[in-house]
Amino acid sequence: MLHKPAVTSAPINDLMTKRWSTRAFDASKPVTSTELAALLEAARWAPSANNSQPWRFLVWNKATDEASWRRAFECLAPGNQAWAGNAPLLVLSCVAATAPDGKPYRHGGHDTGMATFSLMLQAVELGLAAHAMAGFNADKARAEFGVPAEFTPMTMVAIGHQAAPEILTDDVRAKELVPRTRRALAETFFAGAWGKGA
Ligand SMILES: Cc1cc2nc3c(=O)[nH]c(=O)nc-3n(C[C@H](O)[C@H](O)[C@H](O)COP(=O)(O)O)c2cc1C
Repeated sequence: MLHKPAVTSAPINDLMTKRWSTRAFDASKPVTSTELAALLEAARWAPSANNSQPWRFLVWNKATDEASWRRAFECLAPGNQAWAGNAPLLVLSCVAATAPDGKPYRHGGHDTGMATFSLMLQAVELGLAAHAMAGFNADKARAEFGVPAEFTPMTMVAIGHQAAPEILTDDVRAKELVPRTRRALAETFFAGAWGKGA
């Protein structure tokens, strides 16, 4: 199994060091109902502006409803279909467009991202891997699964047990092996004023 730990200038929590977006999933190992419950609880307990919880999640479990899982898989972009077919669980985050008072919900995407990342970190804690995907047909997902007009499909997440990169096609394996990178700290974090080193 391929590990691609984050290289950090200071020690950080293991969950964040270990998490990365693998494309290699083990189709023979489902996510158990206990694990699934933990993933959903992790997302449910994310913080949100005014505790408005603007997120909703659609969940497709290949082990319990393969036909629906297949319809969700068919919503993915071809580049994601090239590897996500072995992930036993697909999850779609959706965000409310407006707050309960009818005003545009400025932090909806932020909060839904936090809930999604909570779910992804919980996956790591359970020994699972999670890979987020913007590459899917949101209109198709909306139509297939009855997402109401007041919600916007945001991000698909493939979840399952990681497998060795050898199971991937040559094209996908080449992407899998690319080293992980991040912008430098000094270009990302500013102390007191924009552009000043932290
Ligand atoms: C909102 C979002 C959308 C993404 N969309 C895709 C995608 O469609 N296909 C894909 O292979 N990876 C996708 N990724 C994964 C990113 O490419 C990945 O997180 C980034 O390259 C950093 O790598 P790491 O997660 O291994 O640290 C997405 C990640 C996020 C957070």
